[in-house]
Amino acid sequence: MNWKPDRKKSTPLYRQIKQHIQEKISNGEWAEGSTIPTQRDLAASWQVNRSTVVTAVEELIADGYLEGDGRRGTKVAQNAWNKQKSVLDWQQYSSAGVWEPNIPTIQKINQMEADSNMIRLGTGEMASTLFPKEQFQKIFQELGENVSTFGYGEPKGLSLLREEIRLYLQELGINVSTDSILIVSGALQAFQLISQGLVQSGWTLFSEKSSYLYTLPIFRSAGVHMVGWELDELGVRIPNDISKRRGFLYTIPTYQNPTGAILPEQRREEILAFSRLHQLPIIEDGAYQELYWETPPPLSLKARPNSGNVLYIGTLSKTVSPGLRIGWVVGAKTVIDRLADLKMQTDYGSSILSQWVAKEWFGRKYHIPHLQVLRAKLRERKEFLIQLLENYLKPYATWNNPSGGYYIWLRFHTKISIHHLFSKALTQKVLLHPGYIYQPDDRNHLRLSFCYEPKGRMEEGIKRLAKLVEEMI
Ligand SMILES: Cc1ncc(COP(=O)(O)O)c(C=O)c1O
Repeated sequence: MNWKPDRKKSTPLYRQIKQHIQEKISNGEWAEGSTIPTQRDLAASWQVNRSTVVTAVEELIADGYLEGDGRRGTKVAQNAWNKQKSVLDWQQYSSAGVWEPNIPTIQKINQMEADSNMIRLGTGEMASTLFPKEQFQKIFQELGENVSTFGYGEPKGLSLLREEIRLYLQELGINVSTDSILIVSGALQAFQLISQGLVQSGWTLFSEKSSYLYTLPIFRSAGVHMVGWELDELGVRIPNDISKRRGFLYTIPTYQNPTGAILPEQRREEILAFSRLHQLPIIEDGAYQELYWETPPPLSLKARPNSGNVLYIGTLSKTVSPGLRIGWVVGAKTVIDRLADLKMQTDYGSSILSQWVAKEWFGRKYHIPHLQVLRAKLRERKEFLIQLLENYLKPYATWNNPSGGYYIWLRFHTKISIHHLFSKALTQKVLLHPGYIYQPDDRNHLRLSFCYEPKGRMEEGIKRLAKLVEEMI
């Protein structure tokens, strides 16, 4: 057992382990029907986290090479060897595509979110109790009578919805024509379209050093280099020079994900000036822009004079419902035309049903009163979570006290292995969002969210977390 996965390879560790186990089966070292060593022993021998071995073993069970035998351990399946000889190696195909897989921790989070017993302390999704159910019931009841078509839509999305969004954007200080708005299937699709339509392999994406976990892999998969800009207490620190690199700056200036930071007025102007000076286009992610408690945040970059370099992305996911999959991109008409053309090639338009619902949502003027109710509820939840942190985690950590958004960025000031904490917390039915999923070399942060769990479960989760931290220290 002196083999170890090679950390320098780009192939993820769990996949190297999977291949290694398959080799052991094919060369007969691990015979059919035999019990393999425990996952704990394998993890120790290969010097990886147990969760990495678990991921590899789970996939091998799913592929039919191994069989879980409950408490008696894991065995090599009876037909594993034959299978290896006769069945196409789908693994080769599964790893052939250009799109990167999620790192195992993110895959684990995605899987575990389905377990209703898990207390989700980091989730970026609104609780179902915050969903505007009554308004939606009305819309659904009346929609059938009012809608004139359920066919494919226009390339840029339902024009009636784009008109509603144009009017709403005016409230945020963004004045554009409907022709410069593209409806997308959630903000995520905007990143995909931009990475495919506006960026060349070898270019650079500058971003805040810890950033939204799904944006960066999309660009990396398109061959784009990542350069993280440091965050200080005032938000992203702008470098003096970018050495003439071509690409984009991706920023979440308001209630940043995951840090909750808000970029102050002066830095916003500096970023715009920097973008003009270096001819660096900006992708402004406004997902949390409207979720302030009291004082509105500084104007978005796109709402300022001389903001022609900015592509603005908005979404209904954080304010109304992520399930609608309705977002929008706003920018120069030629860019929007290009992205709309790509979108037609990709999915021939976002769900027309969702677009009608969103059009009704704005048209009936539900959005702004709903935001007022939501802000008050989020603020109350935030204060509750801050109090819990004061009560249970004060000896070990510090945190920010955000004025909007969904998240608190917690920093341990005692030395603790966050990888280990993540795995331990799972055994206690607590699902965490460790800082390293937003920035690989982050070793001491957790993203906590106050938008999802009800107060009782939030408290139970924080108590369990504090107990684990105490034990680990
Ligand atoms: C900063 C940021 N941008 C975009 C998204 C994705 O939004 P959507 O659901 O509209 O794809 C999220 C979701 O967590 C986010 O945090």
